[in-house]
Amino acid sequence: MVNVPDSLIDTFATRFGQAPEVIVRSPGRVNLIGEHTDYNEGFVMPVATEQGFWVIAGRRDDGLLAVRSEDLDQAGEWDLAQPVPPHKGLWSSYVRGVAAVLRAGGYPIGGTNLLISGDLPVGSGLSSSAALEVGTAMALLTANDAGAQVGERVNLAHLCRKAEHEYAGVPCGIMDQYACLMGQEDRAILLDCRSVSHALIPIPADWRIVILDTQVKHSLASGEYARRQKDCRRAVEQAATVLGRELKSLRDLDEATLEAVAGRLEAVAGRRARHVVTENARVVAAGEAFRQGDGVRAGQLMYASHASLRDDYEVSCKELDLLVEIASQVEGVYGARMTGGGFGGCAVAITTVDGAERLQAAVIRLYNTVQPKPARIILTGASDGAKVWRIG
Ligand code: GLA
Repeated sequence: MVNVPDSLIDTFATRFGQAPEVIVRSPGRVNLIGEHTDYNEGFVMPVATEQGFWVIAGRRDDGLLAVRSEDLDQAGEWDLAQPVPPHKGLWSSYVRGVAAVLRAGGYPIGGTNLLISGDLPVGSGLSSSAALEVGTAMALLTANDAGAQVGERVNLAHLCRKAEHEYAGVPCGIMDQYACLMGQEDRAILLDCRSVSHALIPIPADWRIVILDTQVKHSLASGEYARRQKDCRRAVEQAATVLGRELKSLRDLDEATLEAVAGRLEAVAGRRARHVVTENARVVAAGEAFRQGDGVRAGQLMYASHASLRDDYEVSCKELDLLVEIASQVEGVYGARMTGGGFGGCAVAITTVDGAERLQAAVIRLYNTVQPKPARIILTGASDGAKVWRIG
Protein backbone atom coordinates (compact mmCIF):
# COMPACT_ATOMS: atom_id res chain seq x y z
CA MET A 1 0.00 0.00 0.00
CA VAL A 2 1.04 3.57 -0.52
CA ASN A 3 3.02 4.91 2.44
CA VAL A 4 2.95 8.59 1.55
CA PRO A 5 3.40 10.82 4.63
CA ASP A 6 0.02 11.95 6.06
CA SER A 7 1.35 15.48 6.28
CA LEU A 8 1.56 15.65 2.49
CA ILE A 9 -2.03 14.52 2.07
CA ASP A 10 -3.09 17.19 4.57
CA THR A 11 -1.01 19.85 2.85
CA PHE A 12 -2.53 18.97 -0.52
CA ALA A 13 -6.05 19.21 0.90
CA THR A 14 -5.39 22.51 2.65
CA ARG A 15 -3.52 24.04 -0.25
CA PHE A 16 -5.86 23.05 -3.06
CA GLY A 17 -9.15 22.56 -1.21
CA GLN A 18 -9.67 19.05 -2.55
CA ALA A 19 -8.76 15.51 -1.63
CA PRO A 20 -5.88 14.01 -3.62
CA GLU A 21 -6.89 11.73 -6.49
CA VAL A 22 -3.54 10.35 -7.56
CA ILE A 23 -0.28 9.61 -5.76
CA VAL A 24 2.97 8.85 -7.57
CA ARG A 25 6.26 7.72 -6.10
CA SER A 26 9.09 8.42 -8.51
CA PRO A 27 12.61 7.26 -7.59
CA GLY A 28 15.97 8.77 -8.45
CA ARG A 29 18.72 6.63 -9.94
CA VAL A 30 22.31 5.89 -9.16
CA ASN A 31 24.43 4.63 -11.99
CA LEU A 32 26.70 1.76 -10.91
CA ILE A 33 28.77 1.79 -14.10
CA GLY A 34 28.55 3.07 -17.69
CA GLU A 35 29.04 6.84 -17.58
CA HIS A 36 28.70 9.18 -20.55
CA THR A 37 27.89 6.19 -22.72
CA ASP A 38 24.12 6.64 -23.05
CA TYR A 39 24.26 9.43 -25.64
CA ASN A 40 26.82 7.33 -27.54
CA GLU A 41 24.35 4.45 -27.94
CA GLY A 42 26.33 2.43 -25.41
CA PHE A 43 25.65 0.49 -22.22
CA VAL A 44 24.79 1.74 -18.73
CA MET A 45 23.94 -0.06 -15.49
CA PRO A 46 21.92 2.09 -13.07
CA VAL A 47 19.51 1.21 -10.27
CA ALA A 48 16.44 3.16 -9.20
CA THR A 49 17.09 4.47 -5.67
CA GLU A 50 15.05 4.15 -2.49
CA GLN A 51 15.06 7.95 -2.39
CA GLY A 52 12.68 9.80 -4.68
CA PHE A 53 9.78 12.24 -5.02
CA TRP A 54 6.11 12.05 -4.15
CA VAL A 55 3.85 13.76 -6.65
CA ILE A 56 0.25 14.16 -5.49
CA ALA A 57 -2.38 15.25 -7.97
CA GLY A 58 -6.02 16.26 -8.38
CA ARG A 59 -8.03 17.56 -11.34
CA ARG A 60 -9.22 21.17 -11.58
CA ASP A 61 -11.59 22.48 -14.20
CA ASP A 62 -10.14 25.89 -15.10
CA GLY A 63 -7.34 24.72 -17.41
CA LEU A 64 -4.58 25.78 -15.01
CA LEU A 65 -1.59 23.77 -13.91
CA ALA A 66 -1.05 24.65 -10.24
CA VAL A 67 2.15 23.29 -8.73
CA ARG A 68 3.64 23.52 -5.28
CA SER A 69 7.12 22.29 -4.38
CA GLU A 70 6.94 21.63 -0.66
CA ASP A 71 10.70 21.26 -0.27
CA LEU A 72 11.53 24.50 -2.09
CA ASP A 73 8.56 26.31 -0.57
CA GLN A 74 7.65 27.64 -4.02
CA ALA A 75 4.48 27.54 -6.06
CA GLY A 76 3.16 28.66 -9.41
CA GLU A 77 0.04 28.58 -11.58
CA TRP A 78 0.08 28.53 -15.35
CA ASP A 79 -2.50 28.38 -18.09
CA LEU A 80 -1.91 25.11 -19.93
CA ALA A 81 -3.05 26.66 -23.21
CA GLN A 82 -0.17 29.19 -23.14
CA PRO A 83 3.23 28.34 -24.65
CA VAL A 84 5.92 27.35 -22.15
CA PRO A 85 9.15 29.38 -22.44
CA PRO A 86 12.25 27.15 -22.14
CA HIS A 87 14.22 28.01 -19.01
CA LYS A 88 17.45 26.36 -17.93
CA GLY A 89 17.77 25.30 -14.31
CA LEU A 90 14.27 26.28 -13.19
CA TRP A 91 12.43 23.45 -11.39
CA SER A 92 9.07 24.49 -12.82
CA SER A 93 10.42 24.15 -16.38
CA TYR A 94 10.59 20.40 -15.89
CA VAL A 95 7.00 20.22 -14.69
CA ARG A 96 5.58 22.60 -17.29
CA GLY A 97 7.77 21.07 -19.99
CA VAL A 98 6.37 17.60 -19.31
CA ALA A 99 2.80 18.95 -19.49
CA ALA A 100 3.62 20.72 -22.77
CA VAL A 101 5.23 17.64 -24.34
CA LEU A 102 2.29 15.44 -23.34
CA ARG A 103 -0.23 17.92 -24.72
CA ALA A 104 1.75 18.32 -27.95
CA GLY A 105 1.75 14.53 -28.22
CA GLY A 106 -2.05 14.53 -28.15
CA TYR A 107 -2.57 13.44 -24.55
CA PRO A 108 -5.61 15.17 -23.04
CA ILE A 109 -3.97 16.93 -20.11
CA GLY A 110 -6.33 19.44 -18.51
CA GLY A 111 -6.18 21.58 -15.37
CA THR A 112 -4.39 19.79 -12.53
CA ASN A 113 -3.10 20.53 -9.03
CA LEU A 114 0.28 19.03 -8.15
CA LEU A 115 2.14 18.85 -4.85
CA ILE A 116 5.75 17.68 -4.98
CA SER A 117 8.01 16.61 -2.13
CA GLY A 118 10.74 14.08 -1.57
CA ASP A 119 13.94 12.84 0.00
CA LEU A 120 16.13 12.79 -3.09
CA PRO A 121 19.02 15.30 -3.08
CA VAL A 122 18.48 17.79 -5.90
CA GLY A 123 21.19 18.53 -8.47
CA SER A 124 23.58 15.89 -7.10
CA GLY A 125 23.78 13.51 -10.04
CA LEU A 126 21.03 11.23 -8.70
CA SER A 127 18.53 12.20 -11.41
CA SER A 128 16.29 14.51 -9.47
CA SER A 129 15.32 15.98 -12.87
CA ALA A 130 14.21 12.66 -14.31
CA ALA A 131 12.43 11.74 -11.07
CA LEU A 132 10.50 15.00 -11.28
CA GLU A 133 9.68 14.56 -14.97
CA VAL A 134 8.55 10.96 -14.60
CA GLY A 135 6.55 11.71 -11.43
CA THR A 136 4.86 14.66 -13.12
CA ALA A 137 4.08 12.71 -16.28
CA MET A 138 2.52 9.80 -14.43
CA ALA A 139 0.53 12.09 -12.15
CA LEU A 140 -0.81 14.18 -15.06
CA LEU A 141 -1.64 11.16 -17.22
CA THR A 142 -3.42 9.31 -14.43
CA ALA A 143 -5.32 12.30 -13.06
CA ASN A 144 -6.54 13.06 -16.60
CA ASP A 145 -7.37 9.42 -17.39
CA ALA A 146 -4.81 9.41 -20.20
CA GLY A 147 -2.49 6.86 -18.60
CA ALA A 148 -3.45 3.97 -20.82
CA GLN A 149 -2.91 6.00 -23.96
CA VAL A 150 0.76 6.53 -23.34
CA GLY A 151 1.39 2.83 -23.90
CA GLU A 152 4.54 1.32 -22.59
CA ARG A 153 6.98 2.94 -20.20
CA VAL A 154 9.76 3.21 -22.79
CA ASN A 155 7.60 5.69 -24.66
CA LEU A 156 7.14 7.67 -21.46
CA ALA A 157 10.92 7.74 -20.94
CA HIS A 158 11.36 9.21 -24.43
CA LEU A 159 8.69 11.86 -23.79
CA CYS A 160 10.26 12.91 -20.48
CA ARG A 161 13.70 13.13 -22.10
CA LYS A 162 12.18 15.30 -24.82
CA ALA A 163 10.78 17.64 -22.16
CA GLU A 164 14.23 17.94 -20.57
CA HIS A 165 15.83 18.74 -23.95
CA GLU A 166 13.22 21.22 -25.10
CA TYR A 167 12.20 22.99 -21.90
CA ALA A 168 15.08 22.60 -19.42
CA GLY A 169 17.79 22.93 -22.08
CA VAL A 170 19.71 19.81 -21.01
CA PRO A 171 20.76 17.55 -23.92
CA CYS A 172 20.71 14.41 -21.72
CA GLY A 173 20.75 10.77 -22.79
CA ILE A 174 17.99 8.26 -22.04
CA MET A 175 19.51 6.59 -18.95
CA ASP A 176 17.91 8.64 -16.18
CA GLN A 177 14.30 8.61 -17.32
CA TYR A 178 14.58 4.94 -18.26
CA ALA A 179 15.99 3.95 -14.86
CA CYS A 180 13.33 5.93 -12.94
CA LEU A 181 10.66 4.06 -14.88
CA MET A 182 12.14 0.59 -15.25
CA GLY A 183 13.88 0.01 -11.92
CA GLN A 184 13.21 -3.18 -10.04
CA GLU A 185 13.84 -4.10 -6.43
CA ASP A 186 17.25 -5.73 -5.85
CA ARG A 187 18.09 -5.55 -9.54
CA ALA A 188 20.40 -3.39 -11.63
CA ILE A 189 19.22 -2.38 -15.08
CA LEU A 190 21.71 -3.25 -17.81
CA LEU A 191 20.41 -0.93 -20.49
CA ASP A 192 21.49 -1.03 -24.10
CA CYS A 193 20.97 2.57 -25.19
CA ARG A 194 21.07 1.61 -28.87
CA SER A 195 18.14 -0.81 -28.82
CA VAL A 196 16.67 0.92 -25.73
CA SER A 197 16.01 -2.39 -24.03
CA HIS A 198 17.41 -3.90 -20.87
CA ALA A 199 18.27 -6.98 -18.88
CA LEU A 200 17.75 -7.10 -15.11
CA ILE A 201 20.86 -8.10 -13.18
CA PRO A 202 20.40 -9.48 -9.64
CA ILE A 203 22.41 -7.68 -6.98
CA PRO A 204 23.77 -10.13 -4.39
CA ALA A 205 21.80 -9.77 -1.14
CA ASP A 206 24.89 -9.07 0.96
CA TRP A 207 26.18 -6.24 -1.20
CA ARG A 208 25.49 -2.66 -0.18
CA ILE A 209 25.24 0.50 -2.27
CA VAL A 210 26.68 3.59 -0.59
CA ILE A 211 26.35 7.02 -2.17
CA LEU A 212 28.78 9.77 -1.16
CA ASP A 213 27.45 13.19 -2.09
CA THR A 214 30.20 15.83 -2.28
CA GLN A 215 27.49 18.52 -2.15
CA VAL A 216 29.60 20.47 -4.63
CA LYS A 217 28.57 21.40 -8.16
CA HIS A 218 31.22 22.99 -10.30
CA SER A 219 29.70 25.58 -12.57
CA LEU A 220 31.22 24.26 -15.79
CA ALA A 221 29.01 21.19 -15.63
CA SER A 222 26.31 22.03 -18.18
CA GLY A 223 28.58 23.55 -20.86
CA GLU A 224 31.09 20.73 -20.51
CA TYR A 225 28.38 18.09 -20.91
CA ALA A 226 27.44 19.43 -24.34
CA ARG A 227 31.13 19.80 -25.22
CA ARG A 228 31.75 16.11 -24.45
CA GLN A 229 28.95 15.17 -26.82
CA LYS A 230 30.61 17.24 -29.52
CA ASP A 231 34.00 15.63 -28.83
CA CYS A 232 32.38 12.22 -29.28
CA ARG A 233 30.77 13.20 -32.57
CA ARG A 234 34.14 14.45 -33.79
CA ALA A 235 35.77 11.17 -32.77
CA VAL A 236 33.12 9.27 -34.77
CA GLU A 237 33.73 11.43 -37.86
CA GLN A 238 37.49 11.11 -37.65
CA ALA A 239 37.43 7.35 -37.05
CA ALA A 240 35.01 6.91 -39.96
CA THR A 241 37.37 8.82 -42.26
CA VAL A 242 40.37 6.76 -41.19
CA LEU A 243 38.47 3.47 -41.52
CA GLY A 244 36.81 4.49 -44.77
CA ARG A 245 33.42 3.24 -43.65
CA GLU A 246 30.32 4.68 -42.14
CA LEU A 247 30.07 4.83 -38.32
CA LYS A 248 26.88 5.84 -36.58
CA SER A 249 28.27 6.29 -33.08
CA LEU A 250 31.13 5.23 -30.81
CA ARG A 251 29.13 2.07 -30.17
CA ASP A 252 30.30 0.91 -33.60
CA LEU A 253 33.93 0.76 -32.43
CA ASP A 254 35.44 -2.05 -30.40
CA GLU A 255 38.68 -1.73 -28.46
CA ALA A 256 40.88 -3.34 -31.12
CA THR A 257 39.53 -1.15 -33.93
CA LEU A 258 39.89 1.97 -31.83
CA GLU A 259 43.45 1.07 -30.99
CA ALA A 260 44.24 0.65 -34.67
CA VAL A 261 42.94 4.14 -35.55
CA ALA A 262 43.77 5.94 -32.27
CA GLY A 263 47.05 7.44 -33.50
CA ARG A 264 45.24 9.17 -36.34
CA LEU A 265 42.55 10.84 -34.23
CA GLU A 266 42.97 14.27 -32.77
CA ALA A 267 44.25 13.84 -29.16
CA VAL A 268 41.14 15.00 -27.28
CA ALA A 269 38.74 13.11 -29.54
CA GLY A 270 40.92 10.02 -29.15
CA ARG A 271 40.79 10.18 -25.34
CA ARG A 272 37.03 10.68 -25.28
CA ALA A 273 36.55 7.75 -27.65
CA ARG A 274 38.84 5.55 -25.55
CA HIS A 275 36.74 6.25 -22.46
CA VAL A 276 33.47 5.43 -24.18
CA VAL A 277 34.70 2.29 -25.94
CA THR A 278 36.41 0.85 -22.86
CA GLU A 279 33.49 1.85 -20.61
CA ASN A 280 31.05 -0.07 -22.79
CA ALA A 281 33.22 -3.18 -22.39
CA ARG A 282 33.38 -2.57 -18.62
CA VAL A 283 29.60 -2.41 -18.30
CA VAL A 284 29.14 -5.74 -20.04
CA ALA A 285 31.88 -7.28 -17.87
CA ALA A 286 30.34 -5.76 -14.72
CA GLY A 287 26.96 -7.29 -15.58
CA GLU A 288 28.69 -10.67 -15.66
CA ALA A 289 30.55 -10.01 -12.38
CA PHE A 290 27.28 -9.05 -10.66
CA ARG A 291 25.58 -12.17 -11.98
CA GLN A 292 28.39 -14.30 -10.60
CA GLY A 293 28.46 -12.44 -7.29
CA ASP A 294 32.09 -11.54 -7.94
CA GLY A 295 32.46 -8.33 -5.93
CA VAL A 296 36.20 -8.08 -6.44
CA ARG A 297 35.86 -8.11 -10.22
CA ALA A 298 32.89 -5.70 -10.15
CA GLY A 299 34.92 -3.39 -7.93
CA GLN A 300 37.97 -3.44 -10.21
CA LEU A 301 35.75 -2.41 -13.09
CA MET A 302 34.30 0.47 -11.04
CA TYR A 303 37.78 1.78 -10.17
CA ALA A 304 38.83 1.47 -13.81
CA SER A 305 35.70 3.37 -14.82
CA HIS A 306 36.58 6.18 -12.42
CA ALA A 307 40.16 6.41 -13.70
CA SER A 308 38.90 6.58 -17.28
CA LEU A 309 36.38 9.31 -16.43
CA ARG A 310 39.07 11.25 -14.59
CA ASP A 311 41.89 10.91 -17.12
CA ASP A 312 40.33 10.34 -20.54
CA TYR A 313 36.90 11.93 -20.24
CA GLU A 314 37.98 14.63 -17.76
CA VAL A 315 34.69 14.99 -15.93
CA SER A 316 35.78 14.22 -12.36
CA CYS A 317 36.96 16.74 -9.75
CA LYS A 318 39.26 16.65 -6.75
CA GLU A 319 36.46 16.00 -4.26
CA LEU A 320 35.25 12.92 -6.16
CA ASP A 321 38.81 11.67 -6.69
CA LEU A 322 39.49 11.98 -2.97
CA LEU A 323 36.34 10.09 -1.98
CA VAL A 324 37.15 7.27 -4.40
CA GLU A 325 40.73 7.19 -3.10
CA ILE A 326 39.49 6.96 0.50
CA ALA A 327 37.00 4.23 -0.43
CA SER A 328 39.75 2.22 -2.13
CA GLN A 329 41.65 1.98 1.18
CA VAL A 330 38.68 0.62 3.17
CA GLU A 331 38.37 -3.09 3.84
CA GLY A 332 35.07 -4.44 2.56
CA VAL A 333 34.69 -1.86 -0.20
CA TYR A 334 34.64 -3.71 -3.53
CA GLY A 335 34.80 -0.63 -5.71
CA ALA A 336 33.88 3.04 -6.06
CA ARG A 337 33.58 5.61 -8.79
CA MET A 338 32.04 8.96 -9.61
CA THR A 339 28.45 8.63 -10.81
CA GLY A 340 26.28 10.85 -13.01
CA GLY A 341 27.47 13.70 -15.20
CA GLY A 342 30.45 14.64 -12.99
CA PHE A 343 32.12 17.95 -11.99
CA GLY A 344 30.82 17.38 -8.46
CA GLY A 345 27.77 15.45 -7.36
CA CYS A 346 28.14 11.92 -6.07
CA ALA A 347 30.43 8.94 -5.92
CA VAL A 348 28.97 5.45 -5.51
CA ALA A 349 30.54 2.46 -3.79
CA ILE A 350 29.66 -1.23 -3.70
CA THR A 351 30.57 -2.80 -0.39
CA THR A 352 30.03 -5.71 1.98
CA VAL A 353 27.69 -5.12 4.94
CA ASP A 354 30.62 -4.33 7.26
CA GLY A 355 32.37 -2.44 4.49
CA ALA A 356 29.46 0.02 4.36
CA GLU A 357 29.94 0.84 8.06
CA ARG A 358 33.68 1.15 7.71
CA LEU A 359 33.34 3.36 4.64
CA GLN A 360 31.06 5.76 6.49
CA ALA A 361 33.51 6.00 9.37
CA ALA A 362 36.43 6.55 6.97
CA VAL A 363 34.62 9.31 5.06
CA ILE A 364 33.75 11.09 8.27
CA ARG A 365 37.31 10.83 9.58
CA LEU A 366 39.34 11.42 6.42
CA TYR A 367 37.06 13.66 4.37
CA ASN A 368 34.43 15.40 6.42
CA THR A 369 36.78 16.67 9.09
CA VAL A 370 39.22 17.99 6.48
CA GLN A 371 37.16 19.32 3.56
CA PRO A 372 35.29 22.64 3.71
CA LYS A 373 32.04 20.87 2.80
CA PRO A 374 31.25 17.48 4.37
CA ALA A 375 30.10 14.63 2.15
CA ARG A 376 26.56 13.47 2.74
CA ILE A 377 26.42 9.69 3.10
CA ILE A 378 23.35 8.03 1.63
CA LEU A 379 22.64 4.32 1.96
CA THR A 380 20.37 3.06 -0.76
CA GLY A 381 19.17 -0.09 -2.44
CA ALA A 382 17.79 -0.96 -5.84
CA SER A 383 14.07 -0.13 -5.91
CA ASP A 384 11.09 -0.42 -8.18
CA GLY A 385 10.55 2.19 -10.88
CA ALA A 386 7.85 4.87 -10.55
CA LYS A 387 4.55 3.68 -9.07
CA VAL A 388 1.13 5.24 -9.27
CA TRP A 389 -1.95 4.89 -7.06
CA ARG A 390 -5.39 6.22 -7.96
CA ILE A 391 -7.15 6.98 -4.69
CA GLY A 392 -10.01 9.27 -5.62
C1 GLA B 1 23.57 12.92 -16.93
C2 GLA B 1 22.62 12.68 -18.09
C3 GLA B 1 22.59 11.20 -18.48
C4 GLA B 1 24.00 10.67 -18.70
C5 GLA B 1 24.90 11.03 -17.53
C6 GLA B 1 26.34 10.64 -17.75
O1 GLA B 1 23.09 12.30 -15.78
O2 GLA B 1 21.32 13.09 -17.74
O3 GLA B 1 21.79 11.03 -19.62
O4 GLA B 1 24.53 11.13 -19.90
O5 GLA B 1 24.87 12.42 -17.24
O6 GLA B 1 26.46 9.25 -17.81
